[in-house]
Amino acid sequence: MFIVLLGAPGSGKGTVGKIIAEDLKLAHISTGDLFRENLKNETELGKEAKQYMDKGELVPDEVTIKMLKERLNKADVENGAVLDGFPRTKNQAISLDNMLNQTKAKVDMALNIEVPFDEIVERIANRRSCRGCTEIYNVVFNPPKTEGICDKCGGELYQREDQKPEVVKNRLKVYSESAEELINYYENAKILYSAKAGDKVGKTSYDVAKDVEEYIKNK
Ligand code: AP5
Ligand code: MG
Repeated sequence: MFIVLLGAPGSGKGTVGKIIAEDLKLAHISTGDLFRENLKNETELGKEAKQYMDKGELVPDEVTIKMLKERLNKADVENGAVLDGFPRTKNQAISLDNMLNQTKAKVDMALNIEVPFDEIVERIANRRSCRGCTEIYNVVFNPPKTEGICDKCGGELYQREDQKPEVVKNRLKVYSESAEELINYYENAKILYSAKAGDKVGKTSYDVAKDVEEYIKNK
């Protein structure tokens, strides 16, 4: 089973994605995390991606699609995966369909997480990520037990490079430019599910994950 997560930067794709993947025993694949891992290991791919990530631009399709394809071939994807942050363009969506088609698999659900932009800016500013296991925290809504330390693995918590306000602004702009065509793509395929998830209005990440699991069960 393959579930794709759509939604603006900071909408909670990583947070919801980790819950769903664990509950449904699927791999959790975040293309952003894969790029950051490459950056940390100073690979050629990481160096190339950095130029775009630092500005909040999308990494070119051919680079991203090739990386995703390699990741999908790993053993832990046998039962399927939650794809967090891929696809981000219609071209990526079509490539994904073609890749999955080769093994007679398909995208079963596209979850679109909707959060008001003003709330997103605050969320991203309050986010801390684990350098070790990529766990996500929010210093206001979901703080770690010990400040600066990951509850799960004891790793160091940090603020991502692309959390700078001017980069976040551009990431939201880039998202707005491509969101509609992706939403339409999955709406036409009749597998789109939209959830309003905000702390002030709407659902928590656990509510959204429960909705997804219900949708999949009734499919
Ligand atoms: P990526 O790492 O995917 O970043 P993003 O899409 O900008 O999203 P984020 O990871 O910032 O947010 P999220 O939606 O995961 O939210 P989170 O769960 O952390 O991509 C980074 C870059 O890599 C891109 O800019 C691009 O350059 C490149 N890239 C990646 N994929 C690509 C692709 N396919 N093609 C081309 N380029 C690509 O939550 C945010 C905060 O909110 C946290 O603090 C969390 O605790 C909190 N929170 C979550 N849910 C809730 C809730 N319900 N209520 C209150 N707080 C909540
Ligand atoms: Mg994320």
